Amino acid sequence: MKDRIIVGISGASAQMLAVETLKALKDTGIEIHLIATDTAKDIIEKETEYSWDFVADLADVVHSDDDMFASVASGSYRTLGMIVVPCSMATLAEIANGLATTLLTRAADVTLKERRKLVLVTRETPLSYIHIKNMSTVTKAGGVILPPMFTMYSKPGSIEDMARHIVGKVLDQFDLEHDLYRRWE
Ligand SMILES: Cc1cc2nc3c(=O)[nH]c(=O)nc-3n(C[C@H](O)[C@H](O)[C@H](O)COP(=O)(O)O)c2cc1C
Repeated sequence: MKDRIIVGISGASAQMLAVETLKALKDTGIEIHLIATDTAKDIIEKETEYSWDFVADLADVVHSDDDMFASVASGSYRTLGMIVVPCSMATLAEIANGLATTLLTRAADVTLKERRKLVLVTRETPLSYIHIKNMSTVTKAGGVILPPMFTMYSKPGSIEDMARHIVGKVLDQFDLEHDLYRRWE
């Protein structure tokens, strides 16, 4: 069976990270299942040079966020896990509280219950106690909180370099090969 991964895109800033993640995953040959919220689609078009249609074309399968009959809504559908990039505080709160009212948050809930890897690229600053508490809950449930932090030791020459470094850290969580950043030697 070909490896599969779920990518959720929620309505936070830094949508460039979603695009770079999808491009990097495509290069690995893994099968990509994509779910985006309506706000995410709007922010992609406002914040990046890409259209939603371009972003959707990077995935193998695109699911509607209200399709609870989708394959990825079930734990019996095997995947390596799920990345939510960027992850809004609203989506983080849904996941931390097991609400699963949308396909994106249901897929994240399933990923946790099946003890598969869930990586949330949470984007907000500063953080309230509620945000931190929700991050703590997801961590205790086995998820990985991976905020998009700048890395300066790599001497990035552009915002794209910084984004690719963060995406490299995301792919590292799944042991996927990449050359998105130079490892410290
Ligand atoms: C341009 C724009 C940028 C936003 N950036 C963030 C952000 O960085 N982090 C965040 O938690 N919410 C952000 N929001 C607010 C979320 O979009 C809002 O809470 C929304 O309900 C999230 O829904 P979703 O997670 O289902 O996409 C932003 C909204 C807009 C319009």
